[in-house]
Parts: sequence; structure tokens; C-alpha cells
Amino acid sequence: MELDASSLRPRDCYALLTSLVVPRPIAWVSTMDDEGRANLAPFSYFSGLGSDPPMITLGIAQRRDGSDKDTLRLARRSGVLCVNLVEEQDAERMNASSAELPPGESEIERFAIATTSCARIRGVRVASARAALECRLVDVLRYGRRVAVNLLVAEVVHFFVHDAIAEPATAGAPPSASAQAIRPLARLGDRWYAKLGQRVPLPRP
Ligand SMILES: Cc1cc2nc3c(=O)[nH]c(=O)nc-3n(C[C@H](O)[C@H](O)[C@H](O)COP(=O)(O)O)c2cc1C
Repeated sequence: MELDASSLRPRDCYALLTSLVVPRPIAWVSTMDDEGRANLAPFSYFSGLGSDPPMITLGIAQRRDGSDKDTLRLARRSGVLCVNLVEEQDAERMNASSAELPPGESEIERFAIATTSCARIRGVRVASARAALECRLVDVLRYGRRVAVNLLVAEVVHFFVHDAIAEPATAGAPPSASAQAIRPLARLGDRWYAKLGQRVPLPRP
């Protein structure tokens, strides 16, 4: 098929783009309000951006009524956010946490998701997530026509990597998560998700 993007409705573009830009990692983002209540939601318009300093990006759309999603509102207010790694064991809870609850009502309490304090920022990480990126919000840029979307740029100030997925520390080797041990859940289009299959090493030329 050949499709002129300008002839498509926003929701058609969403369906098409999210079925083609695959597989996407999922950032399970925890933020905190002034009273210390934690908020949690998944975002798959998520990517790494750079390494010096380490940076990530998120694409957060405005709600249908034009208001900010809680994650955007709280990240802006507090200046920090925590990206939790979503692996296979958290698929159901991650999906449940995408429900739109009224502001002030926490997905973490509603779905009984265990959390633990972040090391460096004011916030919590998901206890079952085997890695987390504690971030400082750097920039928010707004794009879009009928449906506005916000590009968040955030700097990672602290990494948590559980020993079970960390590569054993060997002299001279940089710290990393193990490609064999990590079980990320990936987002495809519509209601589809994927698990990693065979890992294939390919040395750089
Ligand atoms: C797997 C998954 C990925 C999602 N990715 C995004 C995304 O990249 N951008 C976005 O705006 N919403 C995304 N959503 C929808 C948000 O999670 C949803 O709007 C949520 O209610 C926002 O919560 P908040 O108001 O607590 O921030 C995604 C939902 C799921 C289940």
C-alpha cells in the first residue's frame, strides 16, 4: 500500500507508526507528587539519546481533553523521574498501570505494586524491576498538530542494575546488563507484545 500521511487521521497514523516502529522498549516511569504519592505509567515512545551525560527521551502525548498526563505534570514539577525496566514478569502489572486514574489516585496503590526508594532522586522504583534509570528532567519540547506530543529529554544520574542481570565485573570491561539474562518485554502494534528470542552476536567491523 502507498499512503499519503496528510490524508490519514491521527489515530490511523498512530496505528500505522506503532505497528512499524517495532519492537519498542517500554519505559515504566515512576514520578512523585509534593505529598510523596507515587505515580506509575508505561511509555513506549522511549529511547536512549546519548552517553555524555547518559540521556533518554520519552514521547508523551497530551490527553484527549488537552490536559497533561500525570507523568509529564509531575516530572515537570519535581524535575525528576525514574524509568523502570519492564521484563516479562511485569507484563500484566505494567499494562494495568496504563489505566487513566484521576490525579492523586496512585496506580501503585490501586494495583498493589511494591516499590522501593530511589538511591539518588526523590522517588521510588518498582521493586520487581531488575533495572532502573534515575533521571533529571532536562527539557520538554512540544510538537504536533491536532494531537500534541511532548518530547522529554532526561539525564540519567543513577543506574540500578540487579546482580541477576549484571554481567560479572571483569577487569577492564565496562559495566553492563547481560544480553542472555535480560528478559525485556517489547511493544508491537495494537495489543501485541513480544519477548526476545534467540540472541545473535555480531562483532563490529
Ligand atoms: C505499553 C504501553 C505503552 C505506552 N506508551 C505511551 C507513549 O509512548 N506515550 C504516551 O503518551 N502514552 C503511552 N501509553 C499510554 C499511557 O501509559 C497512559 O496514557 C497512562 O494513563 C498515562 O498515565 P499518567 O497520566 O499517570 O502519566 C502507553 C501505554 C501502554 C500500555
